[in-house]
Amino acid sequence: MQDKYIKQIEDYREKIKSTLHSFTKVKEFYKKEVMQAMEYSVLSSGKRLRPILTVEFCRMCGGNYENYYDIACCIELIHCFSLIHDDLPCMDNDDFRRGQPSCHKKFGEAEALLAGDALNTLPFEIITKAYNSGKISAETAVKLVGEISQATGINGMIGGQAFDIYSVKMKNFNIHNLNLLHDLKTCRLLEAACVMGCILSSADDKTTESARAFGKRLGYAFQIIDDILDVEGNFDDLGKPIGSDKENGKLTYVSLVGLDKAKEAARHQTLEALKILESFDNNELMVDLTADLLNRKK
Ligand code: IPE
Ligand code: IPE
Ligand code: MG
Ligand code: MG
Ligand code: MG
Repeated sequence: MQDKYIKQIEDYREKIKSTLHSFTKVKEFYKKEVMQAMEYSVLSSGKRLRPILTVEFCRMCGGNYENYYDIACCIELIHCFSLIHDDLPCMDNDDFRRGQPSCHKKFGEAEALLAGDALNTLPFEIITKAYNSGKISAETAVKLVGEISQATGINGMIGGQAFDIYSVKMKNFNIHNLNLLHDLKTCRLLEAACVMGCILSSADDKTTESARAFGKRLGYAFQIIDDILDVEGNFDDLGKPIGSDKENGKLTYVSLVGLDKAKEAARHQTLEALKILESFDNNELMVDLTADLLNRKK
């Protein structure tokens, strides 16, 4: 990745982190532990891919992106909620996340559950506040709420997590099932992240649908690579346990088609994503980032 883009992404990450921090600052005594659990998970060292997508798509489409870090962070809050719950003993039962003990290991299961719940609803408060303060229109607020809730709920990420659990006991689980599972549990939030940038910049429908198509391709590549890293990665880079999928009997790209074909599939999806990006102006950083994610180690 070119130095100037690395610097730009670092700058985005800093602004995202300080915005996230502002959401968990005030902690009255009765909710202190849950808020500490929220803060612990949200401020840990994530890649911040989803809010970066929102900010960048807003910028590429000519929007006033500097104004919307609060809205961009909404998709990161949802993502953090999904990670906290994903690690729980009743789900993937993973003890580490982002290089530190998982939320339930540090704070207990009940606190982790509530921290996840709270992160799932906070975005809707943030969007409503942005409308009430006159920062976004009612139409923009409704579009954002629609996009986030659909991507998150039973027709999106949560539906995918349900399928992920169900898949373990499914007979004849095939590559089409796996693609649907990835589409739901991973692509939907990445698509929403891109589309939110389009909503914030009042992009036209055609542009918005291209952003969604890009997010889907990126999401497929991203989850296939996640499955590969679960086999080939190392804990120090990834900050989460290796071999978790195998231990849980999960069917992944690697277990279904093998490492070589999985890598080929990730490359194919990345190339398709890059093709879609060609129709966007000012796309240089996003092109660089998309290509870079194919070789990520974390
Ligand atoms: C992990 O997401 C969960 C998946 C959907 C594969 P990330 O790899 O984006 O996790 P962080 O945010 O960088 O920790
Ligand atoms: C998680 O998929 C997708 C989510 C919705 C959180 P994984 O279970 O493979 O993600 P990691 O590997 O724990 O980050
Ligand atoms: Mg999982
Ligand atoms: Mg997991
Ligand atoms: Mg994984």
